[in-house]
Amino acid sequence: MHHPIAPLFDGHEEIRAEIDGRAAQPVARTADVDAYHPRRLTLTVAEIITETASTKTFRVRREDGRPLPPFLAGQYVGVFADGTSRPYAMSSSPARADHYDLTVRRVASGRISNHLIDTLAVGDRLTTTGPMGTFHHNPLFHGEDVVFLAGGSGVVPAMSMIRDIADHALPRRFHLIYGSRRADDIIFRAELDAIETRHPGIRVDHVVLEGDPLGAGPSGLLTAETIEALAGPLDGRMVYVCGPQALYPYALEQLTLLGHPRRRIRFEANGAPARPEAQPHWPAGTDPEEEVTVTAGGTSFRTPRNRPLLDALEDRGIRPEAACRSGECGLCVVRVVKGEVHAAEEARLRMSDGPFGWTHSCVAYPLTDTEIDV
Ligand code: FES
Repeated sequence: MHHPIAPLFDGHEEIRAEIDGRAAQPVARTADVDAYHPRRLTLTVAEIITETASTKTFRVRREDGRPLPPFLAGQYVGVFADGTSRPYAMSSSPARADHYDLTVRRVASGRISNHLIDTLAVGDRLTTTGPMGTFHHNPLFHGEDVVFLAGGSGVVPAMSMIRDIADHALPRRFHLIYGSRRADDIIFRAELDAIETRHPGIRVDHVVLEGDPLGAGPSGLLTAETIEALAGPLDGRMVYVCGPQALYPYALEQLTLLGHPRRRIRFEANGAPARPEAQPHWPAGTDPEEEVTVTAGGTSFRTPRNRPLLDALEDRGIRPEAACRSGECGLCVVRVVKGEVHAAEEARLRMSDGPFGWTHSCVAYPLTDTEIDV
């Protein structure tokens, strides 16, 4: 019940009545929330598109043909497979509600990318999370003039953003500077070139590291000189960066050389650090390969210090909820009851987490024998 008060503005009473009306329908509200933010989706592989020798797109739909939950271009779903999960960004346009395109590139020794590329067939089912992630464009904060530096499969969220612009005829300038190792590694090349021709706001430049530099444009790395030559002055433009982990510090260095402020650069989360011992707060002299004992879920096991807790737990069949696997979403949180863990720089912990022992297990590394509450 709310207390009768004088109307605060025109329409106040109507809004109040609508809120009260909705509050009287809790079941419908829950169903609405589930439709937009489902915890799990069961999707069927409807089509498989071979993009390059190392990359496939899996077009997935709901079996009953119902529209999929909406997403913002740049977001991902967590795909569950082989006892673990990985985030994969949609490359499709948010305007196409009947399917998600999940574009997967084979990663050397990548457990899930190889599993999906080698075993997934049309008609197979996939379990995923609903759409998640913060690496999407907000015109209010990010403006309408965007530069996107992509490396390798980092082009996937850019493709979704470009298709979104094309499908909705958005008044946005979007300049993709896309680095690939070789010309035949370029994903979506034909479509990117075709969209660029049709949409004056979209520009695509390829930068190839090895071999044929495609006749025009620069080759090599995405250096400050190359970025400046292609994009011109960055001024206040928002720069997105997505690609292999090594691209992040490199791109930051190059953009800083150009005088571009950090607050105008957005990085996509990109997995647990492969070498946590390289981070400044890793304790000096602590051997990353040495094993320690982790106790969790009624069992104890040995694991090397440089293996993220989440992976170590999954190895033992213990599965905390997880999605981004990059320290961002907070779903994988566990409580350290005893021992010491290294929380990687990537962990988006709240100030109150530390004192109570909460840590994001996907980017936490056990430094000593450790007991955790899962
Ligand atoms: S899975 Fe998202 S923070 Fe760990």
